[in-house]
Amino acid sequence: MQLDNSVLRQQFAQVFSPGGRVRIVRAPGRVNLIGEHTDYNDGFVFPMAIEPEVRIACRLREDGLVRFSSTMFPGEITEFSIEGDIDKAPLGHWSNYPRGVAASLRNSGLPLVGMDALLTNSLPGGGGLSSSAAVEVATAQAFLTLAGHNVEPMRLALLCQKAEHEYAGVPCGIMDQMIVATARVGHAMLFDCRAFLRKPIPLPSEDVRVVIANTMVRHDLTGADGKSEYAKRREQCQAGVQYFRQFNPDIKSLRDVSIEMIEQATGKLDELILRRCRHVVSETARCQEAADQLVARNFEQFGKLMCQSHVSLRDDYQVSCEELDFMAEQAMQVSGVYGARMTGGGFGGCIVAVCKPSAVDALIDHLKTTYKNSKYGIDPVVFSTSATGGAGLME
Ligand code: GLA
Repeated sequence: MQLDNSVLRQQFAQVFSPGGRVRIVRAPGRVNLIGEHTDYNDGFVFPMAIEPEVRIACRLREDGLVRFSSTMFPGEITEFSIEGDIDKAPLGHWSNYPRGVAASLRNSGLPLVGMDALLTNSLPGGGGLSSSAAVEVATAQAFLTLAGHNVEPMRLALLCQKAEHEYAGVPCGIMDQMIVATARVGHAMLFDCRAFLRKPIPLPSEDVRVVIANTMVRHDLTGADGKSEYAKRREQCQAGVQYFRQFNPDIKSLRDVSIEMIEQATGKLDELILRRCRHVVSETARCQEAADQLVARNFEQFGKLMCQSHVSLRDDYQVSCEELDFMAEQAMQVSGVYGARMTGGGFGGCIVAVCKPSAVDALIDHLKTTYKNSKYGIDPVVFSTSATGGAGLME
């Protein structure tokens, strides 16, 4: 779906009122090509920004009120004041994103203004393409634009991650906000989550294309203990770090653990923790190698690493699900496809495939038909996308 700014302006005038200077900001979704569940382990990730995105039309208010609405929830306006404490809405309510971002900007000493804001979205919520990071970064852009202030994109990413931790209650890593805020057109971004170093790597569209397929399922795996599977994985990684620290107190995260150390721990470290660590350590290595292979235009090898990543996420990290496995396997049946894997946090959401330009149509067709005709019987959303730029002011 293409978003249209003139339609957004009309909707804004209907929800709020006509007149005044209305600005429009945007923030893209993202897909991660490889390097999954490595960001919170100080490892490497390799995402790119995608065409589906979030846009916000916004207008300054002089009374310190924020009135925020979304075309996804017509008739609903969330309202809060930027003067006093910014209350949280009940956990899971969408307004925690604007609330969290406002609180995060203010608490870090940035100028904050009131605004009317209407959000619109071509990014499926909960689809594993980082709609929440896009909403956060677009909201931050809206506030900063109206305050006439500029913040370095990486700092913006950190402020938005804080909003996600504190208001949305999700202990995410930095990948999503980082790529949404800093992406470069036509490039994927190799990011070292320890050194905070970014390396844009071109994705030449004449050689290689990216296709995303949404399984349309999301298995909500919050356990009886109230902990999400994501939070559990983080704890398991921490348990691994504790184990390896016995041998070397300089080990701060799984980034400091080598494959040899994992091999030596076999039979000694708890089997489940060992598998989690093996995924993270091998994935960090795969991610760096994949970026090198892309630079060398060795797409076959890049694709193989993507497939290995999927297997590791499925068997060792155990964050895939049968729908994702099915889609990733089906993608590999199409000639001209280099590699395919689940992408994002897992337990549903999307797969990403990398293929020759000539294979795009056949791949999209094959995934749509086989998934629909499978026991899942669902119409998936499948599309190809170029690598877009990071969040910013449109008009
Ligand atoms: C989610 C998180 C990211 C990252 C991925 C897994 O998308 O928001 O920080 O941990 O899962 O790679």
